Order: sequence, then structure tokens, then C-alpha cells
Amino acid sequence: MSKNIVVAIDGYSSCGKSTLAKALAKKLHYIYVDSGAMYRAVALYFLRNNIDTKNSEQIEEALKNIHLNFHSRDYETHITLNDEEVSEEIRQMPVSEKVSEVSALKAVRREMVKQQQRMGKSKSIVMDGRDIGTAVFPNADLKIFMTADPAVRAKRRYDEIHPKNPDVTLAEIYENIAHRDYQDTTRAESPLVRAHDAIILDNTDLTPEQQLKFALDRVEGLHR
Ligand code: DC
Repeated sequence: MSKNIVVAIDGYSSCGKSTLAKALAKKLHYIYVDSGAMYRAVALYFLRNNIDTKNSEQIEEALKNIHLNFHSRDYETHITLNDEEVSEEIRQMPVSEKVSEVSALKAVRREMVKQQQRMGKSKSIVMDGRDIGTAVFPNADLKIFMTADPAVRAKRRYDEIHPKNPDVTLAEIYENIAHRDYQDTTRAESPLVRAHDAIILDNTDLTPEQQLKFALDRVEGLHR
């Protein structure tokens, strides 16, 4: 039997990582895992339960009470937090504003990384996030590091969430992205950094189809 393949896709917020990861997983019939959704669901739990991010006992207790599950339907991310479907709620601004703080916590990262590593043990997967090629799967078969112009990223995110949240402004989204870039790259625990063996994909001027072709060509290269 052939070995399971792990593709790690990391990069900045709203870079199109999940669009590419989903398309790639679908084409290859691999499992797709959106690791950001896990941090978002944890952030939602922290918000709802007023967990003090400076109180390590509260954090440990919260982590024991958080049970996350993915239900893949047509390669869309459906995640449950303690059996409640939260896929929509984790994309709202309150969670987006909280998630960097929560994902910077060592105990939270330790637990998420453990769960993510388990998912890649026996199946071929495409996982996207910030530390997949560095901390979660340092031996991934293929690592892609995605980047794009921040203004383009803000516009893409705006187009995605504005129809459901008409009050949100482009400026607010740009601010949030800039803030998350700063927090993700400067945090002490697993900061966002390109793995030395990751291939850079700047998609500012690339269509989703061009990005998919780029990635598929690299996966094909693995078998040569
Ligand atoms: O990919 P996203 O924007 O949904 O991720 C939400 C947040 O979670 C992001 O601000 C950084 C954090 N994150 C992380 O720290 N490590 C990951 N592997 C994935 C996401």
C-alpha cells in the first residue's frame, strides 16, 4: 500500500489558503483539515465562557471541556464544538478579533497540535494553517507558504463576509488582517514563519485555477 501523503499549506490570514487546500484535497481525494477553524472554535468557547487568558488553571480546565469534531461535507469545513455546529459563528468578527490572543497560548497550541498530528497519521491530508509545515508536520511531503498583497487579501475577505454581515466595512477588515499578521508573526509560540523547505506561492495576481495547477504540479513531482 502506498504511504499517506501530507500537504502543509501555511501563510498569512485571508491569503486563499483554504480555497487552495480544499480544491487540492478534492482533486486528490485527500482529507482536508482547516486548522484555523479549530483555533476559532476554541476562541468561541473562551468568549462564551469568559475564560481569562491570563489564568492558566482556567485555560487548562477549558481545554478539558472542549471537544471538536470535523464533519466533511463536499470539502466544506463543518466543525462542531461540543456537538454544536459552529461553522458560521466562528467566522464572525467577535471570534476573528479574539482568535489571535487565544491561539498564542502555549497550552492551546499544544492541545491543537496533538489533535492535528493524530489526523495525519493514517490518511493522506491537506492541512492549512500557520505552523503546519514547521510545528505540526515538519516532515510533510509538500509544504506551500502562501502570501498576497494585504489590500487584495482584505478585499477578498470583505467580498466573502459582507453579504452575510452588511455592517462590516473594508477598513475594519483590513485592520483585522493587519493586526492578525502582526500577532501571528510576532507571537512567542510557533510564530508564522516559512519553513525552510516550503515553496512560496504569492497569489496576488493568480486565479484559483492557476494556484491549483501550481500545487498539483508539485504533488505530481513527489511521485517522480
Ligand atoms: O486561518 P484562519 O484565519 O481561520 O485562522 C484563525 C486564527 O488562528 C489566525 O489568526 C491564527 C490562528 N491559527 C494558528 O495560530 N495556527 C494555525 N495552524 C491556524 C490558525
